[in-house]
Amino acid sequence: MQPSESRLPITLLGIESSCDDTSAAVVRCASSGRGEILSNIVAGQNDLHAAFGGVVPEIAARAHAEKLDIVVEAALRATGLRLADLDAIAVTAGPGLIGGVLSGVMCAKGLALGSGLPLIGVNHLAGHALTPRLTDGLAFPYLMLLVSGGHCQFLIVEAPDRFHRLGGTIDDAPGEAFDKTAKLLALPQPGGPQVERLAARGDADRFAFPRPLLDRPGCDMSFSGLKTALLRARDGCIAVAGGLREGDRADLCAGFQAAVADVLAEKARRAIGIYMESGPPLPVFAVAGGVAANRLIRARLQALCDRVGVGFAAPPLALCTDNAAMIAWAGIEKARLGQYDDMTLAARPRWPLDTRQAAMLGSGRKGAKA
Ligand code: KG4
Ligand code: ZN
Repeated sequence: MQPSESRLPITLLGIESSCDDTSAAVVRCASSGRGEILSNIVAGQNDLHAAFGGVVPEIAARAHAEKLDIVVEAALRATGLRLADLDAIAVTAGPGLIGGVLSGVMCAKGLALGSGLPLIGVNHLAGHALTPRLTDGLAFPYLMLLVSGGHCQFLIVEAPDRFHRLGGTIDDAPGEAFDKTAKLLALPQPGGPQVERLAARGDADRFAFPRPLLDRPGCDMSFSGLKTALLRARDGCIAVAGGLREGDRADLCAGFQAAVADVLAEKARRAIGIYMESGPPLPVFAVAGGVAANRLIRARLQALCDRVGVGFAAPPLALCTDNAAMIAWAGIEKARLGQYDDMTLAARPRWPLDTRQAAMLGSGRKGAKA
């Protein structure tokens, strides 16, 4: 039977398996409306994919199928609760690598059927976008930049089920570009932290990297051309010196990172302008995703917010990257609106948050960006 609007307090199990992290979490929303993470277990798959230079969907799906029941048990055990003590089960139903999403949805359906708990299908991107409400108690509407290896978009989050996409990448996600840059410079994966480390010692002005799409209005971005520019600059260095010197590497990293930061900062400035037109009572700009860990990018966005008088929120990194606590929380938001699913819940490889707009092009290395 479908419950109607759920009353507080409410406690959910969340399940996430849309890319290369198998995760289960138990999250409670107190009568005050504040969320509390009771457990959040994440089993990564980095070592399984390392040899292939990216996530292999079939390997990921198999690993999810093997690990899901283990992480669910661990998440429950950590809280001392049983399924019967919970109010519902939330699961990522897309977008993402379909084998992984299917594994999670089937696991959640089995648990829901066995326990009699209601089922809630969550959009993975909504999970990211609603995280600042769990961590910082943000009120609607707030502006959000999702920036990771698979996502890059500006969203005005108006309600748990209403997102206005202002723009996003039309090709690679920035994390993907960081990872490809690292690969071209023979640095280990994931590339972002490596590139950031070397960039600290480099001269950002030595190479003239492009700032794609800054000459066009709007908030759309493009990062694939940067990687081509980096490849050319790298080959130029090799041609001159017969190899890549440590200083060249550092300068290439610094130049690349500065270009990404410039693009994100300028597009964020425009996104804030559009957001402010709607007159939000408590304006806040929140960032999430692995790339938000980058100190230069974070500092540029924070400085921008300080300059224009908008609050800045950045959830702790463990909750910015893929995890099931955000799925449980998004499930809680849906439960509070009475939005439950049943056994017909389908796994979706693509699932745009803002259905009023055309889907974004491209599909990131770590899942669909739509
Ligand atoms: O959110 P995340 O863990 O996973 C998804 O992509 O969904 O983000 C991982 C991405 C990788 O591409 C990684 O290189 C990038 O975030 N990243 C960084 C930094 N730390 C992680 N990029 C730039 N600077 C960093 N410090
Ligand atoms: Zn994600």
